[in-house]
Amino acid sequence: MRKLEDCEQPTRTVTFFKRKLQDVIHKISTSDAAAGTVTSVDRTVCMAKTVRLMAEPKENVVMEKIVSLCKRRGFIYQSSEIYGGINGFWDYGPLGVELKRNVKELWWNVMTHQRDDVAGLDATIIMHPQIWKASGHVDTFTDPMIDCKTCKGRFRADQTSEIPCPQKPSKMVSECHGEKTAPRAFNLMFQTHVGPVQDDSTIAYLRPETAQAIFAQFKNVLETSRQKVPFGIAQIGKAFRNEVTPRNFTFRSREFEQMELEFFIKPDEVVEAISGRIEGPAPAGSSPEPQPGWGWEAWHKYWVEERIRFYEGIGLSRATLEEYWQKPEELAHYARATVDILFKFPFGTQELEGIAARSDFDLSQHARCSGKSMGVFDDELRGAWSKLEESKKKELGERYYKARLNYLTRTGMDAAEAEKQARGDSENLAKGQYIPHVIEPSAGVDRLILALICNAYSEDQMPDEKGKLETRVVLKFHPRVAPIKVGVMPLLKNKPELVRKALEVRDLLRPHMNVFYDDAGAIGRRYRRQDEAGTPFCVTIDFETLEGIKEGPLSGRKDTVTVRYRDDGRQDRMAITELVDFLVPKIR
Ligand code: GAP
Repeated sequence: MRKLEDCEQPTRTVTFFKRKLQDVIHKISTSDAAAGTVTSVDRTVCMAKTVRLMAEPKENVVMEKIVSLCKRRGFIYQSSEIYGGINGFWDYGPLGVELKRNVKELWWNVMTHQRDDVAGLDATIIMHPQIWKASGHVDTFTDPMIDCKTCKGRFRADQTSEIPCPQKPSKMVSECHGEKTAPRAFNLMFQTHVGPVQDDSTIAYLRPETAQAIFAQFKNVLETSRQKVPFGIAQIGKAFRNEVTPRNFTFRSREFEQMELEFFIKPDEVVEAISGRIEGPAPAGSSPEPQPGWGWEAWHKYWVEERIRFYEGIGLSRATLEEYWQKPEELAHYARATVDILFKFPFGTQELEGIAARSDFDLSQHARCSGKSMGVFDDELRGAWSKLEESKKKELGERYYKARLNYLTRTGMDAAEAEKQARGDSENLAKGQYIPHVIEPSAGVDRLILALICNAYSEDQMPDEKGKLETRVVLKFHPRVAPIKVGVMPLLKNKPELVRKALEVRDLLRPHMNVFYDDAGAIGRRYRRQDEAGTPFCVTIDFETLEGIKEGPLSGRKDTVTVRYRDDGRQDRMAITELVDFLVPKIR
């Protein structure tokens, strides 16, 4: 769940256009009034002037270069650019879409196909509005806003000491003498209406996270996948948040994708009843196999390690990442621990993914609000419970009772009713019944794409065809995520025999990987184009391919090509027949 603390602070260099945009946002978001004062055309024109500059952090030279490269090479464009763009929305171009697909496929593969204990889900974006009531989003998914009656600006209440006053930019909003309203909660969910009638009864929301669908479908997946706790449900999909200040390129967008796993585990009391004790977490850096005696702490630590290993496997070294363990006072009331995995972006070290131990809060909420049971039956627990000594039964039962009572009391339930229900829940342990707890690794696809691009971006010196050093821009993606795996090139475009052979090589590689065929321009220029696209290998078909190698140990051998490596420009000679076996292990 989003927390206020996790919102980054704006920089002090606010341009005229940023200030203008705040004005426009204010006019637009004071919705009813906006209908009279700002027409849809006005909005488009104002947005056209302001959004482009807002989106790009001019104060960060590296980010400026990255944003420009992303557009120039077709990774990321501003959404609706021909109409001036729309703030917080981004489109992925030909290279961006490949990068994104690779990342999502790798996540899906690691989280589901490579494991026996995770099943997948693909749920709708619009769901029953009660889901968002039960999850707490309708009431608490808000940012605090204040309005200034003097300048008509609207600001995040927790950022007023960081934002210059639109009328007196030498002062921050908190220091200026404008007349401010008290902070008001601004809900970040996008609203829509389902069906032709637009009244309160038809309000629905675009989901602000994919997680809730997993909780809502928990019972269906459990019954149809033949899984048993501990097991997980994974989902990748779009989420929408009407962020007050979308910023840092795609980092904080209004439409984005998430990759979320809800991993359901037994409550510690159940583990202890079955295994006799709770095993603690494995030492940091180790990659242990899950154990039946693991309590929530061991599972939580396990998922933190698994997720860091995933990032390492796609090229983000541990040195580029940080673990931030939220302090007890920062945790949501239902969370037992939350770790944010941070990446060192050029604009600061920021969250890539959060891994939260969320207790049984979500399933309990949906059980309470829907009236449907979210409990599971565990034969092993029933068997183990009957063999426990009475004192142990009492101790575990009391611990479970207290945890349930704590949850039920917080819901505002009448004290006597809460006690009765908590007692009933605790007695259900003897029947093998409990509500699972959950560990939630929740990652943002778009943030990860941005992290991968920032991590890959480099400039170095490389000799051109005449041996003169020139600066080159290169994206050093891990081959697993690179949008194009190999560029295939005939040395010359006007030699049909070279072109024919190059097309044969392209067709040989295509079933195994994304190949880009390029015969336009000098070979050095073609290499540079692939460097900028992050293509790890180029294969060149030259006259020696056709006529045989002129000298050296392979002298006279035909059907060989040069394989050129992106990162250092090194070249190897290799038989065409060896290419697939050579390249495939490097890109998988
Ligand atoms: N279900 C838990 C949840 O949604 P979150 O910390 O709000 O937790 C999880 O979001 C991840 O989703 C974040 O770590 C981030 O990678 C991504 N994310 C959240 N808001 C985003 C936004 N406005 N733009 C891009 N990515 C976002």
